[in-house]
Amino acid sequence: MFRDVSSCNTYNYGDALYWDSRYIQEAGGAFDWYQRYSSLRPFVRNYVPTSSRVLMVGCGNALISEDMVKDGYEDIMNIDISSVAIDMMRRKYEFVPQLKYMQMDVRDMSFFSGRSFDSVIDKDMQMDVRDMSFFPDESFDSVIDKGTLDSLMCGTDAPISATRMLGEVSRLLKPGGIYMLITYGDPTARMPHLNRPAYSWNIVLYNLPRPDFKRPGGGSSTKSNMEPIPITEKGTLPADFVLEDPDSHFIYVCKKDG
Ligand SMILES: C[S@@+](CC[C@H](N)C(=O)[O-])C[C@H]1O[C@@H](n2cnc3c(N)ncnc32)[C@H](O)[C@@H]1O
Repeated sequence: MFRDVSSCNTYNYGDALYWDSRYIQEAGGAFDWYQRYSSLRPFVRNYVPTSSRVLMVGCGNALISEDMVKDGYEDIMNIDISSVAIDMMRRKYEFVPQLKYMQMDVRDMSFFSGRSFDSVIDKDMQMDVRDMSFFPDESFDSVIDKGTLDSLMCGTDAPISATRMLGEVSRLLKPGGIYMLITYGDPTARMPHLNRPAYSWNIVLYNLPRPDFKRPGGGSSTKSNMEPIPITEKGTLPADFVLEDPDSHFIYVCKKDG
């Protein structure tokens, strides 16, 4: 359930070909990076109403969208740069109308450059495919990202890719909408990207230990994971803040103004 995406040097996480070959090797399996929906549920349910129009960016072959549908979510658009993952997921969820899948680069969700309309046809595609061929501004209530910004941060031109991706996320969110980022990146690494005036996001931060984390000496934590962590004006963790699990995950809940 936990794979270390922080080792950018070992794997080419920013490259679509890397992901295609990985999903071919995984041959129809399913895998959730970092955390399963059961651990994320309190956060998701708190910030994302079940009636929301949700965009899952970089869905891969994760079960989170399926688990959300089982939990009452009605409309989840899943995108990924890997055509292998998208073809597989589209087949798998052919009879789940709440889930839709499209191959797309999260850095440009405005049109399908260089791709035939056929390659992006959605399973529900009764309508003119051109109506579905881009996401207009402010078309989603929530965007969920588990590990996708992290992957781009491993690629070439990481800062440019991150800016393009987050610009697109901001464009697609309705006023008052939520971008939920689940990442291994601490505020020093992520806040400079998220905290841009152009996005006008109010950011609340949470921290979750890895699912397999064992506290030294055992026992359970005295802290609630649902308690937001303060972020300093400089966009860092407070100097006296101690992470229980040094390799824990962060959840940034970014709310668009309005
Ligand atoms: C670390 S995996 C996370 C997968 C899934 N979200 C999960 O939680 O298990 C990153 C995913 O982002 C996708 N990805 C990488 N670059 C992308 C891009 N530019 N546009 C869309 N998806 C991308 C990869 O294909 C991969 O499925």
